[in-house]
Amino acid sequence: MQPVEPIVWTQEGVVMLDQRRLPGEVVYHTYTDYRHVAGAIKDMVIRGAPAIGVAAAMGAALGARQSHAQTIPELRAEFLQICDVLAKTRPTAVDLFWALARMRRKFDAEVAKANPAAAGALPRIREALVEEALAVHRERREQDEAIGHFGAALMPRDGRVMTQCNAGALATGGIGTALGVIRVAVREGHKLEILVPETRPYLQGARLTAWELHQEGIPLKLITDNMVGHTLKTGKIGAIVVGADRIAANGDTANKIGTYPMAVLAREHDVPFYVAAPLSTLDLSIPNGEHIPIEQRPQEEVTHLRGVRIAPDVAAENPAFDVTPAKFIAAIITERGVARAPFTETLAKLAQEPAG
Ligand code: MRU
Repeated sequence: MQPVEPIVWTQEGVVMLDQRRLPGEVVYHTYTDYRHVAGAIKDMVIRGAPAIGVAAAMGAALGARQSHAQTIPELRAEFLQICDVLAKTRPTAVDLFWALARMRRKFDAEVAKANPAAAGALPRIREALVEEALAVHRERREQDEAIGHFGAALMPRDGRVMTQCNAGALATGGIGTALGVIRVAVREGHKLEILVPETRPYLQGARLTAWELHQEGIPLKLITDNMVGHTLKTGKIGAIVVGADRIAANGDTANKIGTYPMAVLAREHDVPFYVAAPLSTLDLSIPNGEHIPIEQRPQEEVTHLRGVRIAPDVAAENPAFDVTPAKFIAAIITERGVARAPFTETLAKLAQEPAG
């Protein structure tokens, strides 16, 4: 069964499934203005690091298509501004910045090839940017399949697997990273039951992961976040697999808030803790997790539950991500293979390998 498509490029614009309304309603919006694509990323219409990268690439291509620039320098100035607007949406997921850097490189490569005097130069650049955004999306699907292939071998043949947040089709545009591993394992005959923590405060586990797995008939049990420790202690969990928003050079990994305590508890209970992510989530420019910016989200997400106040009018904290130190991670599953400690060496080696 083809997993849900969170984002599609059409001639009309960028079509996105509104993830804020799941699981109750399946509603798609068509965005014809790159500023609205930026708004959709910021407002969580689309979320999940790899999918944010796809949305940013499509937003940049859309912005270039919207532009009325008449010359290459005009288009370049506008394009850089478009990329800046898209970059100011969410700070932690490095795929966003990776995708925009790739789109800027594509722009420059096309300009280098173009004859500025030729009538078709600008349309050709615009078309090339659309093609590049579509390539980012297509590669996501291929990367997810490869991650799934490498990760499935690490899953129990028969047992329970825990995840966190939503690192599924909704979060990548492919079959997912963590859920891609689970999907491929199930496809290959593993008998798995997935433990899905609800993932307060935004409930990506309850609303999105439970929905995705249920739609495909993959057995799951939903738990509240404060059941993680008890479940790991008593629940015969064979493995944990989660996604990532940014992985530092030493393997320290930012992922949805609640991932770090899960990893520490996994160590205590001898459960292997795996991170599944494409190499675009690797940030080799930072040596360790201390350099990862953590997004602070509105207090209302904590004081309210889906719009209903659940606490008195008090201040709340809402860091959207935490950083799991590399020492708690058994392996990082990428599209080019599985990295194990020492991650500084193994990740750098995987990143250097030629693509394909
Ligand atoms: O705030 P979100 O929903 O964008 O956070 C998503 C996560 O933390 C995912 O686990 C991560 O982006 C990996 S998605 C394949």
